[in-house]
Amino acid sequence: MKNQVVIITGASSGIGKALAFEYGRKGAQIVITGRNEQNLTAAEAELKAAGINAKGIVCDSASEEQTRAMVNQVIQLFGRIDLLINNAGISMRSMFETVDLQVLKQVMDINFWGTVYATHAALPHIKAVKGGIIGISSIAGFRGLPVRTGYSASKFAMNGFLEALRTELLETGVHILIACPGFTASNIRAASLNSEGKITGESMRDEGNMMSAEEVATRIADAFQAKKKTLVLTFQGKLTVFLNKWMNGLLDRLVYTTLKKEKDSPLQ
Ligand SMILES: NC(=O)c1ccc[n+]([C@@H]2O[C@H](COP(=O)([O-])OP(=O)(O)OC[C@H]3O[C@@H](n4cnc5c(N)ncnc54)[C@H](OP(=O)(O)O)[C@@H]3O)[C@@H](O)[C@H]2O)c1
Repeated sequence: MKNQVVIITGASSGIGKALAFEYGRKGAQIVITGRNEQNLTAAEAELKAAGINAKGIVCDSASEEQTRAMVNQVIQLFGRIDLLINNAGISMRSMFETVDLQVLKQVMDINFWGTVYATHAALPHIKAVKGGIIGISSIAGFRGLPVRTGYSASKFAMNGFLEALRTELLETGVHILIACPGFTASNIRAASLNSEGKITGESMRDEGNMMSAEEVATRIADAFQAKKKTLVLTFQGKLTVFLNKWMNGLLDRLVYTTLKKEKDSPLQ
């Protein structure tokens, strides 16, 4: 990865930050984005302290204008983009019937449209160096989850978009990986939106019992290097995808029961 330029959206926390360390340690020049400047600056400082060439650029992935400006700035600073990792994402938890639809729009704007904006802006530069794109999707991109309708829809949309684009780019030398982590310890559940679009501030699951963001990052980098097209992580994630294909009705019941057991589940 020496001298290669990697953009990771939403990398002041969790999987994005772990990917920044992963690619930074391989020698890449790392650009990280996020909305909160203080958190982004702190992540940039952590990366630099580890000897990584890192640059934080404040950018809301839901804004096409900010995303195009971010990509232009990267080109001005580094002159190339080798890998774009569409990682920025938020989640939600609410029964669909009572959710403010702005919540679904916000989730789609960040998770799906954020991926589309960054990919569209960076693609000519990625094509020029036969680089790559990674989409951080989810098991929820294969199997819809109750009380996460908007999140599931955004990840299904990401999967369809990236699969179609991968095929469109078949003869260009650009590689695309759709990475689908299972439950991973991070801030995503604490930062998720409730039915009114308010951040809940605490996780509804035991974060200590999940795959670490660092392990997820290493597995993603290995899969990308091996030119895998799809990566499904965790035993539970693989089982969910397999059973959903062959025993879809049973999965409805299993997923319902699992999500109902979450702390303060709206599924009562
Ligand atoms: N953790 C899991 O269990 C899990 C499982 C499957 C898939 N994923 C996916 O992994 C990705 C990373 O999630 P995570 O678990 O690492 O969550 P996280 O710890 O909450 O990190 C999310 C990062 O994205 C940034 N972000 C959020 N909205 C943004 C926006 N509009 N523009 C730019 N940056 C934004 C956040 O910073 P700011 O808030 O400052 O913007 C933060 O740096 C997401 O796409 C998520 O769907 C996570």
